[in-house]
Amino acid sequence: MAEKDCAIGHEGTALRAIVGTIMAGYDGHRGWLYTAAVSPQHRRQGIGSKLVQHAESVLIAMECPKINLQVRASNAEVVAFYKKLGYFTEERITHGKASQIACWSILEYLSLPPKLTDVPV
Ligand SMILES: CC(C)(COP(=O)(O)OP(=O)(O)OC[C@H]1O[C@@H](n2cnc3c(N)ncnc32)[C@H](O)[C@@H]1OP(=O)(O)O)[C@@H](O)C(=O)NCCC(=O)NCCS
Repeated sequence: MAEKDCAIGHEGTALRAIVGTIMAGYDGHRGWLYTAAVSPQHRRQGIGSKLVQHAESVLIAMECPKINLQVRASNAEVVAFYKKLGYFTEERITHGKASQIACWSILEYLSLPPKLTDVPV
């Protein structure tokens, strides 16, 4: 998805800020959602749900037959969030192997926003 499709900005102030984000991918077999996040002061206003629903609509428009996501088992709040949106736990074993490539974290940004001019491009 293009950047314009995956962020919701907060308008009404002189400075527009990103208050939520989500990533989605489709490999032709399964769709995946990644890193849904809303800034702490904007949570429980339906923004996260809108982000997921928008990502779903884009994946469905691409004829994606199933959407998966991973959540840390300890993250009960996010499990509850996705359950409300119709996602349920499946019996799967997830394997992973980290590469050495560093990744800038949107979660870190939303929790501790730097000045917009500090955001790497
Ligand atoms: C998960 C997250 C994106 C939800 O965003 P949000 O904008 O607050 O979500 P919504 O307002 O759309 O919530 C929809 C419903 O989800 C459920 N829900 C959301 N947050 C919840 C929480 N902390 N505890 C329990 N249920 C929750 C509720 O049923 C809620 O409906 P309600 O407010 O009418 O009760 C946000 O809490 C977040 O950014 N968390 C930290 C980042 C993170 O860990 N992301 C997951 C990466 S995999």
